[in-house]
Amino acid sequence: MIGTIFLLFFSISSSSYTYASLTLCRPDQRDALLEFKSEFNDEGIQGAWTSFCVTSSPKRKSWENNTDCCYWDGITCDANSGVVIGVDLSSSCLHGHFKPDSSLFRLQYLRSLNLAYNDFNASSIPTRINELMGLQRLNLSYTSFSGEIPTEILHLTKLVSLDLSSIFMYSQTLSSPGKPFLSQLAQNLTNLRQLDLSHVNLSSEMPQMMISNLTSLRSIRLHGCNLFGRFPRLSPTIRSIDLSAIHT
Ligand SMILES: *[C@@H]1O[C@H](CO)[C@@H](O)[C@H](O)[C@H]1NC(C)=O
Ligand SMILES: *[C@@H]1O[C@H](CO)[C@@H](O)[C@H](O)[C@H]1NC(C)=O
Ligand SMILES: *[C@@H]1O[C@H](CO)[C@@H](O)[C@H](O)[C@H]1NC(C)=O
Ligand SMILES: *[C@@H]1O[C@H](CO)[C@@H](O)[C@H](O)[C@H]1NC(C)=O
Ligand SMILES: *[C@@H]1O[C@H](CO)[C@@H](O)[C@H](O)[C@H]1NC(C)=O
Ligand SMILES: *[C@@H]1O[C@H](CO)[C@@H](O)[C@H](O)[C@H]1NC(C)=O
Repeated sequence: MIGTIFLLFFSISSSSYTYASLTLCRPDQRDALLEFKSEFNDEGIQGAWTSFCVTSSPKRKSWENNTDCCYWDGITCDANSGVVIGVDLSSSCLHGHFKPDSSLFRLQYLRSLNLAYNDFNASSIPTRINELMGLQRLNLSYTSFSGEIPTEILHLTKLVSLDLSSIFMYSQTLSSPGKPFLSQLAQNLTNLRQLDLSHVNLSSEMPQMMISNLTSLRSIRLHGCNLFGRFPRLSPTIRSIDLSAIHT
């Protein structure tokens, strides 16, 4: 521990700027998180959502400006640069509109984002999600986002895990001449190991090539996605599969 602090002190003092204290968190990252926190109400979560909301200890309680953000509940930083690489605010009683220009998008180094089990009051998933280009894990399950899935999600080519299950979304591609969402996904998100789109209304034919093209895929859940057509050929790498409710 002392060794770590010493090393940290050494690396900071040897760089071109000096810090008043040994704070790991980068100030721009701290401010982005504090602003994100203030974008939501603490009160007013209602109905079924209260059961997902652990009111006794919302993680954001520890988010105070006078403390190092790298030690806040739900936050992971890069140990060298102090940039935020992980945000886990699942079941955190977040309630309200998700701003299209949320300060969350200033966390450019994020690799993992989990906002599952919060109530975003039927907001759209912001198209600026594609600015979080380093995202490897994205979990928006049970968040009451609604509307079209923005195709910008398909720009996140580093994703290894994507969970959009049980949000009130649909894919727009049926009404446009483009390829079905799943085919586009298979072309772009080739690193996926886990995919869960259960109860997202994809309303399209099951693309036959899709599952065999995603060679890293280990787990896929497309339960209740309103898919139809032939059951696809399975890749031998898949360990877990739920394609129930495909109408043939
Ligand atoms: C946090 O505190 C610093 C230093 O007092 C200040 O410059 C910064 O604006 C504060 N951030 C927020 C989001 O209030
Ligand atoms: C949620 O949306 C409803 C309907 O648009 C609106 O009346 C309500 O104020 C919103 N609540 C919050 C917390 O944003
Ligand atoms: C696939 O990703 C590339 C690079 O980010 C992007 O330009 C392209 O539009 C994406 N394809 C789809 C179908 O979104
Ligand atoms: C998404 O987050 C929820 C809540 O933390 C968790 O139960 C679920 O397993 C996560 N999904 C994936 C694919 O990791
Ligand atoms: C699957 O891969 C083949 C060969 O690489 C490619 O021609 C095809 O377009 C891919 N299909 C999808 C749905 O991405
Ligand atoms: C799913 O989407 C299709 C096409 O947009 C629509 O016709 C259908 O009613 C939707 N199904 C549900 C359950 O919302």
